[in-house]
This record gives sequence, structure tokens and C-alpha cells, in this order.
Amino acid sequence: MSEPCRFVIFGAAGHLARTKLLPSLYDLECAGRLADGLSFTALARREMDTDGWRAHLTEVLAERRGEHPNEAAARRLAGRFDYLCGDHQDPDLYRRLRRSIEATGACRNVVFYLAVPPNQFRYIVSGLADAGLNEAGDAHRIVVEKPFGHDVASARALNAQLRAHYRERQIYRIDHYLGKETVQNLFVFRFANSVIEPLWNRHLIDHVQIILDEQEGIDTRAGYYDQTGALRDMVQSHLLQVLSLVAMEPPAALDADQLQAEKVKVLRSIRPLDDAVDASAVRGRYAGYLQEPGVAPDSSTETYVAMKLWVDNWRWHGVPFYLRTGKRLAERQSRVAIRFRDPPQQLFRQMSGGRREPNWLILSLQPEETIHFELQARQPGLRMSPRLLRVSTAYRTPQEQALDAYATLLLGVIEGDRSLFIHFDEVQLAWQVLDPLLRRWEGNGDGLVEYQPGTWGPEQSARLFERPHQHWRNDR
Ligand code: BG6
Repeated sequence: MSEPCRFVIFGAAGHLARTKLLPSLYDLECAGRLADGLSFTALARREMDTDGWRAHLTEVLAERRGEHPNEAAARRLAGRFDYLCGDHQDPDLYRRLRRSIEATGACRNVVFYLAVPPNQFRYIVSGLADAGLNEAGDAHRIVVEKPFGHDVASARALNAQLRAHYRERQIYRIDHYLGKETVQNLFVFRFANSVIEPLWNRHLIDHVQIILDEQEGIDTRAGYYDQTGALRDMVQSHLLQVLSLVAMEPPAALDADQLQAEKVKVLRSIRPLDDAVDASAVRGRYAGYLQEPGVAPDSSTETYVAMKLWVDNWRWHGVPFYLRTGKRLAERQSRVAIRFRDPPQQLFRQMSGGRREPNWLILSLQPEETIHFELQARQPGLRMSPRLLRVSTAYRTPQEQALDAYATLLLGVIEGDRSLFIHFDEVQLAWQVLDPLLRRWEGNGDGLVEYQPGTWGPEQSARLFERPHQHWRNDR
């Protein structure tokens, strides 16, 4: 990075900053990835001065730094910050911000990270624009978090607020799953191996499962979650992004425009749910959810969704994509499981007791990070019979450190690389895919199934499967 860069964090005293942004900046500092000319403004409502902020930052990092704290890196990071206190609706805040940016000589390279609720966006972007902090080109970039809206209409309205002052190229919409290395690996694994890509289509694949299960409940997040539910919280963003990476065509090049265009094509090819809303999805709620602090007693919010989607294009026509996510399930596990078709000729069926033993490819994204292939090979011995051969490899060696997804994303924003961020077309199409379900489920508990914490969720999800041999792949 040749030019100095100023990175402004709105909502710096909030939960996201404390749990993700500041610890990830610290990790990047430790790894020597923050350039000398990079400095930060922390911005929040809380009254304090820069020294007070630096003390706060040191405390936040102390909570997170683990067993081998790097004091020098923590000091270096704190020294990059100044602090501004103010209200997002106060024009004076933006004048002070401008002066603080000018003082660093970084006016031509500024990131504004909006770690604040979406209802604050319009005050912030218009405050920035009025202070002349919306220079076109890539000089000024805005970073926003999910959820981007709560349906198609609200996403469009939110986007219009941002686009009134910034161009699409200046807006970095985060889906933190795209910052996960194992999610990025879906792309490398597919397109860097000539033996994989020819298998990746409806001729050889029976179905695809994308599973993002969680063991935790909603913790203290009822205020957000009870208004949101699993469909909006997880499916609209993370699951559909993973699906796009699994299903996309190879882009002509690795730049953001091409990548986003290919993901958009997948989302556009998803068959509308219109006539099949109930047949395509099962929703559930864990027992005890209504007793969580802050949950409305008459809530009909789902904490579990399983659904089936079809991607109607040449590559995927006829291949069901089964998606599943939920809170308080048996295990925390995220994986893409691909079941291949049975061989056309069942030569060994009798010898394997009539069982089908298909090939599976399982890409475990977290917490386990493995690539796992199941093949058939001859069973040693006198009789000619097949047995299952499990070929597994870890994504990283024990020496290879894992960085949080946010570290990758923050670096992407600082370097102006949009390839790990989401275009508005993707957001909009994802909402469109789910819109019939959102409307069907809104404000009623029809078909909401209660499941016991620690299980795999409602058994009713089995009704989504197209063929008798299909079942959730819960183990690896
Ligand atoms: C967030 C959701 O986007 O992703 C949370 O709001 C969810 O509800 C989280 O727990 C899961 O992310 P990860 O990285 O822990 O899999």
C-alpha cells in the first residue's frame, strides 16, 4: 500500500468491534500485515478521549489475545488509533472526522466501516457526503454488515440510501463466510483440479447438501434474532453464498466483477419456490426458545430451516440442493456433502448384501477442516467383494495458523479487493429466492415444528428428499 490509508470504524465500542474487528486487526498486526501508513479512527457515542480509547482497546485485546500475547503488537495497534465521540446525526461529527483524516494526509484512501445497525446508515452516509467524504472512484469505501434488509423491498430501500452518495464499486457488503479459508477453498478445489471439474454436474452428482449446523442457542441476541429467524439470518446470506460457490461456472478471471457475475447467474437460475413453498421447506424451533430472555411469548420465529432448491441450468438441472441450518443442534458443523450417482451397472451389489455404497465427497468447512472422499475398493481376502475406502486429508497442518474470517475481509477492504464481498444483485436475488417463504411464514406458526436441543432437528425434514436413498449426511 503506497498511499496512507485511514480506516474509520463507526460503532467502535459495539459488540462486533469488540468480538471481531479489533481482535482481527490485532491478529493482522501480529502477522505484520498492517502497513506503516495505515491508521484508524474509532468512533462511538461513549464520552472518552483517545487515551481512554487506547486503554479500552488494550482491555478488549487482553480478553482475546490468548496464551501468547504480543504486547508490542498491541501497543503498535493502539498507537494507530484516535477516537472521536459523537452522534451520527450531528454534522459537526463529520467535520471533525474530516479534519482528523486530513491531518493524516490519507484523504484519498479512506475506509468507513459501518459496524452499526442498518437504521443508522442513512445518517452516516449523508453526514459523510455533506462533509465531502464521498469522493468517487475507489478512494472512499463503505463497508456494511449483514443483514442487508429483511426482504427485497427493504434491501432496495437500504441500497438506495447508500447509492445516493456512493457508487456500487465503493460499497463492500460483508458476508463473513466468504472470509473463511475453507469456503474460499471450495473455489480452488473445484477450479484448480482437472480431475474434479468434469465430475461436477448433473451427469454424475445425485444431490448436494449444504449444512451449517450450530450447537449454541441465541445467547443474549433475542432482540435481533427474534425479529430475524434462521431463514433471514443464515439462509439468505451464508447458505446461498456457499451454494453459489458450489454451483457457479468458472469465471473468466479472478477479479471481483467476474466472480460476482458468476454467482449472480447461479442465483438467477434457482427455480422460484412459488408453487412449492410448503413442499420445499421445513421450519423448526428448539424447545425452550420461548423461555429465552427477550423472546416474545407469541413468537413464531424459526431457529431451524431445512429446504430444497433446484438450480435450473445445463449443469445442475434435476440435482436437488438440500440446505440445512439451525441453532441448538447436535453438533457445530458446516459442510458441503456431495453424493454421486450410483454406478449404472450394479456388478457388486450381491456381494455387498444389496447395499448401495455411493461415492461421497465431503468438504468440511468448520470446525473440522477436511476434504473427505469415499470410494469403493476390493476387500482383501479370497472373495471378490467391495468395501468402503475413506480418503481424508486435513485442510491445514497443525503448524498452519487459522486466522478469523474478519482478518481476511479487513485486509481485502484495506487493499481495495472487492472479490470477497457481495454485489447488490446477489443480495437482491437471494431475497427474491426466499421471498415466497418469508411471506408464507410471516406472523404465523403454521408448520413450525418443535425439536429437542442436541438433536439434528425435526425429523419432518426427511420429507424434502426426492428419492428413498437420500438422507442427511450427519457424520463424516
Ligand atoms: C452470523 C449469524 O451471521 O453467523 C449468527 O448472525 C451465526 O446467528 C453466525 O451464529 C455463524 O457464524 P460462524 O462463523 O460462527 O459459523
